[in-house]
Amino acid sequence: MTNISSRLGDELKPGFDDAAWVDVLDAVDKTYAELVDYQEQLEARNTELSTLRSFLRSIMTSISDYLVVTDKDGFIADLSQSFCAAIGGDKDALIGRPVVGFFEGEMRDRMSAAMSEVAREKVEQTFEVDLETLNGASPVDFRVAPRLDRRKRISGFILTGRPLGELRQAYRELESSHEELKQAQTQLVRTEKLASLGRLLAGVAHELNNPISFVYANTHSLQKYLDRFESYFEQVQSGASREELVALRAELKLERDLKNLRVAIEGARDGAERVRDIVEDLRRLSAEGSGEVAPFDLTQTAKIGAQWVQRGLKRQMKITVTGESTCMALGRSGHVQQVIMNLVQNAADAMEAIEAPEIQVRLSYEGEMAVMQVCDNGPGVPEDLRAAIFDPFFTTKAVGRGTGLGLSISQKIVEEHGGTLSYVQGISQGACFRLALKRGDQR
Ligand SMILES: Nc1ncnc2c1ncn2[C@@H]1O[C@H](COP(=O)(O)OP(=O)(O)O)[C@@H](O)[C@H]1O
Ligand SMILES: [Mg+2]
Repeated sequence: MTNISSRLGDELKPGFDDAAWVDVLDAVDKTYAELVDYQEQLEARNTELSTLRSFLRSIMTSISDYLVVTDKDGFIADLSQSFCAAIGGDKDALIGRPVVGFFEGEMRDRMSAAMSEVAREKVEQTFEVDLETLNGASPVDFRVAPRLDRRKRISGFILTGRPLGELRQAYRELESSHEELKQAQTQLVRTEKLASLGRLLAGVAHELNNPISFVYANTHSLQKYLDRFESYFEQVQSGASREELVALRAELKLERDLKNLRVAIEGARDGAERVRDIVEDLRRLSAEGSGEVAPFDLTQTAKIGAQWVQRGLKRQMKITVTGESTCMALGRSGHVQQVIMNLVQNAADAMEAIEAPEIQVRLSYEGEMAVMQVCDNGPGVPEDLRAAIFDPFFTTKAVGRGTGLGLSISQKIVEEHGGTLSYVQGISQGACFRLALKRGDQR
């Protein structure tokens, strides 16, 4: 080093001593090292900057909300792809244009006013304006925030906008699907009502058929008797002798007919009374459906309800009603009868594949409550479904066979009565439903 320096020194600057050269070379070394260092820093900054730039670009491209950055005079400095797409312009062509130019009339005034306000107060503003997009004016929820420099002076604005059109559309769609859902629910409720009405009518038809055919057959017999009496009276009128009439009476078996006549009339009356009772039952079911809360006999109501279901069943099954022969409860008996019919119908449905199906209805008093239990020897309800069976629309039955509303409507009716309806463990593996209502007898 010294040699080179001295030689260089000798050649370039005669008289320049070695020590001076060392200083110069040191300085050069130092400067060079600083330069390298600076270069490294610069490169690091460059990488950082380009990462940042591509990060920003990715935001600008993928952000679905609008983002527009302007200078302090409102000229666009940068903007998101979503904004370009909305107004239908090329990014490069839009940069440098005044942002207010994309709003019209009153909307433009509102945007300008907001920007002036932000410039003055240095606090952000939020408002709704219509933006002129490719698809016409579209409502946008805009937020204008100040861009401040290091000395807290306004250097521009940052506008972010959320298009409300889509949001509103989504709302509308949500609302309409909600509406459809409500309609479908109403339809299902109607279906359940019609289904129970259908079952009831099947029972009614079956039950009316018996006494009516009875009455019908008896009128046939009456017709026959009438024919015979007529021919006898014709003889009487034509002045037949006593002997002739006695003989005719025996021939026509009028004595026996007279007795049968009475039986036929009694039979017809029985039949008619049965029809009247059925109609009475039905009338009570519909009239008391909306009736007043009053004491009624739960045992009697259970018997009638069970009978109605039984009559509508294709396959007969044993239904026994045991316990209190009179079990007074407080409520609307028509409504409670519907609950009973739902429970009995469910039990019957569950036992379609059971060999010796049996439904037991038990009435009892438990303290202040009148209690009815409807138990069957079907498969019961699996433990994991017990919480769900009272949910509206929960059904394990095939489409068209169950609406899943029976138990939820029943529970609603019972709760309106201040009572409870619950699933309890039966004696065997079958299902057991327990209905408890306030007692209806004075104690
Ligand atoms: N006695 C019962 N035995 C077994 N499962 C029952 C019984 N009662 C009700 N369930 C279950 O509860 C579900 C809901 O009953 P419900 O609300 O009356 O509607 P649906 O009868 O239309 O299915 C039935 O689908 C069935 O799975
Ligand atoms: Mg049901």
